[in-house]
Amino acid sequence: MALTAAGLTGVSLMPLIAARRAEAADTPAPTGTAAPAVELFQVPLPLIPVARPVSTDGGTDTYEITTRTITKEILPGLPTELLTYDGQFPGATIRARSNRPVVIVQHNGLDVPISRHLHGASVPPDSDGGPMDTIAPGDTRVYRYPNRQPHASLWYHDHAHHTESENVYRGLHGSYLLTDRTEAALPLPKGRYDVLIALRDADFDATGRLVYAMSDRNRNTLLVNGAPYPYFEVAARKYRLRFANTSNMRFFELRLADGGDLIQIGSDGGLLPGPATVKSLYLSSGERADVVIDFSRYPVGSRIVLQNTAGRGPAEQVGQVMRFDVTRTADDPSRVPAKLRTLPPLPEPTAGRTVVLRMDEDGRADPQAYIDDRVYDPGRVDAVIRHGASEVWTVTNTNTKAAHNFHMHLVQFRVLERGGAAPGPAESGLKDTVVLQPGETVRLQATFDTYAGQFVYHCHMLDHSAMGMMATMKIG
Ligand code: C2O
Ligand code: CU
Ligand code: CU
Repeated sequence: MALTAAGLTGVSLMPLIAARRAEAADTPAPTGTAAPAVELFQVPLPLIPVARPVSTDGGTDTYEITTRTITKEILPGLPTELLTYDGQFPGATIRARSNRPVVIVQHNGLDVPISRHLHGASVPPDSDGGPMDTIAPGDTRVYRYPNRQPHASLWYHDHAHHTESENVYRGLHGSYLLTDRTEAALPLPKGRYDVLIALRDADFDATGRLVYAMSDRNRNTLLVNGAPYPYFEVAARKYRLRFANTSNMRFFELRLADGGDLIQIGSDGGLLPGPATVKSLYLSSGERADVVIDFSRYPVGSRIVLQNTAGRGPAEQVGQVMRFDVTRTADDPSRVPAKLRTLPPLPEPTAGRTVVLRMDEDGRADPQAYIDDRVYDPGRVDAVIRHGASEVWTVTNTNTKAAHNFHMHLVQFRVLERGGAAPGPAESGLKDTVVLQPGETVRLQATFDTYAGQFVYHCHMLDHSAMGMMATMKIG
């Protein structure tokens, strides 16, 4: 049964709750390991603390961070053991500025190797936190982030070869918000009205323990900033909400229960050229979306549920994510300008290549996952790229049931085409991760004019990358 489930991983991101109910009915009831049903909207949304540097000398922010195990009450009355950065789940948010370097002195206090990766960042290869560049238990490593790139909502997570999916699942993830003058000058909601919303799922057993199994179909408890199905008391004004999907495998399609407008202002690599009014947000694992919601359209006392209409699982568990409770009025000097940023023009492409994503989906035991028909081999270079090149990559998911997505280290790319058509507004800015539904093709353009060296690209459904859907590019 479990093997079949693995083969069917990522199947059927059905947009209809009714369809998901039908699917849930076919799924055998979990056998005695299921966590107690969590009541919705019982806990307040935790606000993720901002990390404090140990030094700001010489114009560099230095952080010292230790990974360690903690026990925390996530489900009411039950202890859950987590892997954490400095005891925080999710990790504290690092706030950085473009061109002001950050140094992370990372100690590994766990009994497993770790590798710290800054997702979406342009960093030298020895600070990228690649799969083989691990920190042994008890050891320390220094990562240097020059932050020579525009503002972006980045995130950090573990990347140790083959164990990244379990390590991230058990808690090793956090946000890294990079700002710059362009972004800071805009009259967008700021301070307490600029809120991180980190989404993920989890499978708890009856004792509150996090269950990890490859391609587990029972990760049906949703956590927002580490808490199950929270409520968030908001003022009747505009908020900037920075959604991040930090799930290993789950995709979300988010909408307000009343069908109210969401104003998308940003994606993985920072602000869009201009705001886009949308009814829903689609986020595959690893993607981010920056959104403004104007709660002034709701009377004080309103409660608006954030729904999810994608992904597998029983609707009672995965159909509702959190709730916004409008509890007060507040002044609102913020605005969403019609123009948010100017993206640099795309250079003439100098080369093109194709990438094929595929995994075994025939239900065989021990399925593997491939890029260009090859399982990841850290000793092999799969793509040789000239430094300075601007390449068009045509990425295809040839599976008929399994969805994938595609993430490149080092670069923020542009989506040129999705299924032969121009991309929608959510993909009109800079991206580092894009979804690929079964059979889908995306054309993207990336420019490799920053650091030389070896970096990986992979499916960001981390169970898939752990199964081999990862490859190495060498720039130089
Ligand atoms: Cu989110 Cu290889 O990374
Ligand atoms: Cu990455
Ligand atoms: Cu995949």
